[in-house]
Amino acid sequence: MENIRTVAVIGLGYIGLPTAAILASNGVDVIGVDVNERTISAVNRGEVPFVEPDLSIHVSGAVSQGRLKASDRTPEADAYIVAVPTPFKEDRSADLSYIEAAAEGIAPQLRGGELIILESTSPPGATRRLADFILARRADLSLDGSNGRATIHVAHCPERVLPGRVMIELVTNDRIVGGMTLEAAERAKALYSVFCQGEIHLTDDVTAEMAKLVENSYRDVNIAFANELSMISDNLGIDVWELIKLANHHPRVNILQPGPGVGGHCIAVDPWFIVDADPANAKLIRAAREVNDSKPAWVVDKVIQAVKDSGALSPVISVLGLAFKANIDDLRESPSVDIARSLAERLPQASLLAVEPHIEKLPAALADFPNLRLADVDDALPASDIVVFLVDHNEFLELGVALAGKEVIDLRGVLSK
Ligand SMILES: NC(=O)c1ccc[n+]([C@@H]2O[C@H](COP(=O)([O-])OP(=O)(O)OC[C@H]3O[C@@H](n4cnc5c(N)ncnc54)[C@H](O)[C@@H]3O)[C@@H](O)[C@H]2O)c1
Repeated sequence: MENIRTVAVIGLGYIGLPTAAILASNGVDVIGVDVNERTISAVNRGEVPFVEPDLSIHVSGAVSQGRLKASDRTPEADAYIVAVPTPFKEDRSADLSYIEAAAEGIAPQLRGGELIILESTSPPGATRRLADFILARRADLSLDGSNGRATIHVAHCPERVLPGRVMIELVTNDRIVGGMTLEAAERAKALYSVFCQGEIHLTDDVTAEMAKLVENSYRDVNIAFANELSMISDNLGIDVWELIKLANHHPRVNILQPGPGVGGHCIAVDPWFIVDADPANAKLIRAAREVNDSKPAWVVDKVIQAVKDSGALSPVISVLGLAFKANIDDLRESPSVDIARSLAERLPQASLLAVEPHIEKLPAALADFPNLRLADVDDALPASDIVVFLVDHNEFLELGVALAGKEVIDLRGVLSK
């Protein structure tokens, strides 16, 4: 680590900026690089352009001490950490163009001896592609010093922090570091040891890439099992919440809770990278994605059936929760948003009251429906014929009496908690 004084962090989002700030807080000189002018000027003012507890203190402190600054140009540095987005494309393969754009900026700055770490969640082989991309532009460099060329050290280090706890988990989580060479892995470990108090496990680059994808696929497959059970139970007239509670009394069974689908930008996305890498063998992982992706449409059909059964011509329907999970304000890839949108489209005669205590205005996807508005839970419930629990926010756990006489569709087991 004595040879790493300056680190450039490419991509100052939810992952890159906390990483840049924590390195700077621990005495490393950090230059954050981003393509977004607003992000660059916010960071240079010592401000954080999104919400993450405790991040502001780190950023403002590091900027005022001159340890952290932001730029739109990739500088010379001893180490580079790439934390740009890796969304999936229409065909559900990973879009590696952001990583390539980052590599394009890094390649001309290299003198030999640098460490380059890919932190973006990546399909197997992406770290090698990053290295190949750079080496194709720099014939004077190599990964092993062969033919008298200078060496660059390339590694993958996936990130598994939980939004809302990033500044804690950056320090306490164990990490996996996959080096394209052992020396690259060891150098990356030395860099993370500056702030990481968890264990740092060394492996190769492809195993590290797969480890991150497998962690999220494991969750997805297990949630799909619960979601499938909820649909089977509904068909058989069984209470799925009681069923799972009972089955979980078995000492070696631990079934997760079903929900309206799977959201967020990790669990709903990352398994597709494995499917894309080996479509012939990734049968269960694909099926799990399909089960979880099918759940919102199932929920919509269920609500429409309840409207028909009620006989109401202009029913009032409360949808409780738009976030992708409990007690957060994050609506990214949220199945609840899709459900609310689909209900607004398919039930033009109904009034839909969306209750989401963590937001102040509806997201763009829901903003233009005349039959859908954001409402307070205390206003929404008395007016409603049908109440649909989509998220188990704490605010929704004690609504018992207010639900009397309503048709309740509970996708999160709120009434069984
Ligand atoms: N957010 C999470 O909870 C989380 C957790 C684990 C892993 N990840 C992974 O980390 C990676 C980054 O995710 P994020 O949530 O920080 O994304 P983000 O969208 O919050 O941030 C990405 C940043 O990169 C910038 N950017 C895009 N192209 C660039 C370029 N060519 N050069 C410089 N900057 C560029 C964007 O302007 C943005 O500020 C993704 O691969 C994601 O899957 C995210």
